[in-house]
Amino acid sequence: MAEKNTPLIEALREYAAGKTVRFHMPGHKGGAGTSPVIKDLMGQAVLWADVTNIPGMDDLHQPTGIIRKAQELAARTFGAEDTYFLINGSSCGLMALIMATCRPDDKILVPRNIHRSILSGIILTGTVPVFFKPVYDRELMLPLAVSPETIRCALAQNPDARAVFVISPTYNGVTSDIGKIAAEVHRYGIPLMVDEAHGPHLGLHEDLPPRALECGADAVVHGTHKLLTSFTQASMLHVTGPRVDRARLEQSLRVLQSTSPSYLLLASLDAARADVAAKGRQMFDRALKMAAELRVGIRNIPGVTTFDERWAVERGAAGLDNTKVTITVKDLGITGVKAEAWLRKNAFIQVEMSDVFNLLVIVTAGNTPGDIARLVSGLQAVAAEAGKGIMLEDDFHVVLEQALVEPPETRLAVSPREAFFSPSVSLPLEKTAGEVAAETIACYPPGIPVLCPGEKITPQIIEHLQLVRRLGLHFQGPHDPTVRFIRVLKDVERAGQPEPVEV
Ligand SMILES: Cc1ncc(COP(=O)(O)O)c(C=O)c1O
Repeated sequence: MAEKNTPLIEALREYAAGKTVRFHMPGHKGGAGTSPVIKDLMGQAVLWADVTNIPGMDDLHQPTGIIRKAQELAARTFGAEDTYFLINGSSCGLMALIMATCRPDDKILVPRNIHRSILSGIILTGTVPVFFKPVYDRELMLPLAVSPETIRCALAQNPDARAVFVISPTYNGVTSDIGKIAAEVHRYGIPLMVDEAHGPHLGLHEDLPPRALECGADAVVHGTHKLLTSFTQASMLHVTGPRVDRARLEQSLRVLQSTSPSYLLLASLDAARADVAAKGRQMFDRALKMAAELRVGIRNIPGVTTFDERWAVERGAAGLDNTKVTITVKDLGITGVKAEAWLRKNAFIQVEMSDVFNLLVIVTAGNTPGDIARLVSGLQAVAAEAGKGIMLEDDFHVVLEQALVEPPETRLAVSPREAFFSPSVSLPLEKTAGEVAAETIACYPPGIPVLCPGEKITPQIIEHLQLVRRLGLHFQGPHDPTVRFIRVLKDVERAGQPEPVEV
């Protein structure tokens, strides 16, 4: 019964309904001073509820009242000992976990397909990353699961590592065997932390993979806003067991989270948790049925395919979250990027992301069977257009061959923190072979770094970046988003070579 309570929502409702004259932040005073365009867009109720720390509303950084109650309810719902509400996205939870478990110069084992927030945590702490590789499918150009064997070897080579991070599920829904990985990690007495940003719904239905916490992870970060019903930016951090020091974690969250948390975000977390407690299985039963329907529709379109759990398991995955549907358009002779743009412009359908060969869609209970039918007919239209040759990429076959090459190897020359804080210059990409990167260059989506600060730039990396640019994918991180110029360290050993000159 307690699960039905929503302490944050109730407190906000009570305050909004009261007659209190507001001499506190925010400046719009419950909407009276808001720009009319915002009021028109959002509605009065949202503005009444837009408050921050005032008496009775508790304190996110030292919770003793309604936030504490709401977090305890969330811990119970998601099977954790302790839950922390995050109002700066999953990103800040991932950074806080690194700050709580590692100190400067400590080693942390992380997969190469880390989200860039993990890299930010590494820069903030001065931790040294040791990268391991997930299985990489060359045909679809997608990172998949991490094998327990990879973790075992990485730990054997780095027995002094202080923590291990794994991403499971991946953006495309592929899960790793967290039980076996946890057993390897715990042999060294260190915590296994799982970036479960794309899996806050795991374990809510018998056809979904289990939660990482249930399988032995010590801490997980949930993008509650990504798959459940909270507002964008509202996420949760769940911790269990003795390996993550709660006092350090709380101190880290105090460093990273705003001192003026939005109660709209906090209340939306409370409501998302209540939804899960009341009808989580039902929500995902509906979502899984619609996703299954979508898969049938896709398989009936010549040239368009979607992988299933068997495909993922054959490539080393523990399972697949079927609410994520990866739609491969490679056999149509077009890129996923082009298919995404066509669907947006002509069919008014926006997918979650696209890459070289694929589109990714996320199906939740918020979708309807009508949405699925529209997407299937949109994809039929894409296939028909591609069949006419109008959308054919000029150099698709060249791209195809080059794309089959795995992203190039990288090597750290200095720590990401040292590179981040060192003097740097901007050089044309083609002149950077042998230099050390001063910035992160990730291809977005899915935000996997091609280069991290401190890594040596090779001719292969330059070629890869040129290819990614040609494919029209979006870069995140570099000062020049077109990646014609990149920042490199100014003061590195150059063996008699002249210093680079900024162009
Ligand atoms: C794997 C992964 N982890 C973490 C994040 C960060 O989540 P947020 O945007 O909530 O900060 C993302 C964002 O897309 C992600 O893909």
